[in-house]
Amino acid sequence: MGGGTMDTGLEQKTAAYLTHELRAPLTAIRCALELIEEESQALGPDARTCLGVAMRNAERLKGLIDDILDLSKIQAGRMQLFPVPADPAAIVKEAVESLQPWAKKRGIRLDAEAAEGCPEVSAEPRRVVQVLTNLISNAIKFTPKGGSVVVRAEAGRRDDAGYAVFSVKDTGPGIPEEDQGRLFRFFCQAGSAGQRAEGTGLGLALSRSLVEIQGGTMHLESRLGEGSTFSFTLPVHLPVLEKDAASGKALEGKLI
Ligand SMILES: Nc1ncnc2c1ncn2[C@@H]1O[C@H](COP(=O)(O)OP(=O)(O)OP(=O)(O)O)[C@@H](O)[C@H]1O
Ligand SMILES: [Mg+2]
Repeated sequence: MGGGTMDTGLEQKTAAYLTHELRAPLTAIRCALELIEEESQALGPDARTCLGVAMRNAERLKGLIDDILDLSKIQAGRMQLFPVPADPAAIVKEAVESLQPWAKKRGIRLDAEAAEGCPEVSAEPRRVVQVLTNLISNAIKFTPKGGSVVVRAEAGRRDDAGYAVFSVKDTGPGIPEEDQGRLFRFFCQAGSAGQRAEGTGLGLALSRSLVEIQGGTMHLESRLGEGSTFSFTLPVHLPVLEKDAASGKALEGKLI
């Protein structure tokens, strides 16, 4: 978080404390808005529009608070993840389905493609959905109406180690080479301040950290005017290790 003269540890604790304290009143606001929504047929059109604005902004605020909490955990080295065997196709489906209504509203075609035989990964599914959601949201946000976004999961292999590759390909404006490296830093956005789309510059940095904590790597292939493909790898789940563990065999010397 920002440079300045403030002690970084104190800054992290303040951010963690503040975001934590902001959560409870925000949850109360969201619940109250949901209750009003259930009775929304009793409201006039202007009041319904205001309710929609309030609900969308409450959701945005929740996303931002969750991201800042994650960021402070990552910076404090306290982000703990619990990997389980997870099906890449199911993860892709969940992320794509939740963003389909927004893609439709923006006039963007959003498709999921899971290559057959894509192996199970060892990861925390909720966190992989979070990374994909960030990448797909960006693709929808930056791609002009009429464009398309394709989300894929497929098998990959390097140096005898298997991994799965998740990718999000869009037909958006592309990203100039000189901007590509810094986009993965916290609070960085491309372009001049005037051209920047709504956002905080947290999504990609958080996503990269979440992928790396789970043993994967994040990649970007893009050229100005030719769309962008963001992708990340995750290690495959190795069932043989579970059998060994169940039969009490030592796991020493094996890749875990
Ligand atoms: N698919 C894309 N096409 C073009 N530019 C992109 C794309 N994805 C990201 N970018 C650029 O990278 C920047 C950083 O993305 P990031 O997701 O970190 O932040 P954000 O979307 O601006 O805000 P936040 O995700 O915190 O709401 C974006 O502001 C945009 O300039
Ligand atoms: Mg984003």
